[in-house]
Amino acid sequence: MVQQCDLNDFEGLCRLDSTGMMGALEGLPAQCTVAVGDICDCVELPAIEAISNIVVTGLGGSAIGGDLLRVYTAGKISVPVTVNRDYVLPEFVGPDTLVFAVSYSGNTEETLSAYEEARARGASVIAITTGGKLAGMAARDGVPLVKIPAGCAPRAATGYLFIPTLVILQRLGLLPDLTGEITAMAGFIKELQNKIGPESPEEENVSKQIAHKLYKKIPVVWGVTGTTEVVAQRWKGQINENAKAPAYWNVFPELNHNEIVGLEYPPEILKKIHVVILRDEQEHPRVQKRIEITKGIIKDALDGVTEVWSSGDGDLARLFSLIYTGDYASLYLAALYGIDPGPVKIIDYLKWELAKE
Ligand code: PA5
Repeated sequence: MVQQCDLNDFEGLCRLDSTGMMGALEGLPAQCTVAVGDICDCVELPAIEAISNIVVTGLGGSAIGGDLLRVYTAGKISVPVTVNRDYVLPEFVGPDTLVFAVSYSGNTEETLSAYEEARARGASVIAITTGGKLAGMAARDGVPLVKIPAGCAPRAATGYLFIPTLVILQRLGLLPDLTGEITAMAGFIKELQNKIGPESPEEENVSKQIAHKLYKKIPVVWGVTGTTEVVAQRWKGQINENAKAPAYWNVFPELNHNEIVGLEYPPEILKKIHVVILRDEQEHPRVQKRIEITKGIIKDALDGVTEVWSSGDGDLARLFSLIYTGDYASLYLAALYGIDPGPVKIIDYLKWELAKE
């Protein structure tokens, strides 16, 4: 029988956390600062001719940085950014493509396969990993390697996995100098940590309050296309992996054209759904109106709706404020279920079964 943890019991939270997920999350601001400096400084980039498109290939915790890149750079970069979560690459990938092959472990078979395909198609490839087979392949092929520190779960290494993609695009002249914005974002979330971290009491701690709302409920996280969509996906993944609980995500305005129609049956199950709407000041005015109308439509059918607003100055800080809030909420939800947030035995089992052949 699992024991629910009191979220104000700091020692209790740490006792459940055998792999140090809480500590790793506390290190996110430092990861970003290190990634903008030391980690990328020593990477030698070859002269890369005209780039027409960028692909980030990876899975799970290593792919979310690709989505962050796609959303964050949407209005800032003149070439499309695509995230590939598969063994194979889209047909358009060729010599004018820059491919980031990202795998925290360096051993994810889909990413290794996509890496080989990118090389075969003559794309410019950059590997981001702690080591494993991917590091070996990059060394074999003379491919630039961003070697990031090992020792935490991929989903707890978002700073290491995402920030280098920005820095490299900046060095290639595809993005302006973002050092100031990245450093300011890291400083901002470090301050935010005082409010939502494990030592901040529940009465003042938004992440702990959200965990309580999601406890014994089915979380459905809604973001907005172009702003918080990647955060909604991140919240879902973090609730799955840290709290070992189901969660679903969708985006405005698309969900207004299907998902809201599907909230009538079965009413007893719908009453278990708690919707989180991720809000941002950059939302399109018509989307704001849609959100208000939608809240009215769904309010009686579901358990409840919680809105969480981004904070901070700049696109990066606002994105990370919501990511940090959700990451902590997922760890607190794990504590409410009385489980260890770190191990992902099912993923390990699947990889182990696949490796048998
Ligand atoms: O969080 C996790 O452990 C997973 O989502 C992994 O990131 C995913 O399985 C891919 O592994 P890796 O990040 O090592 O490439």
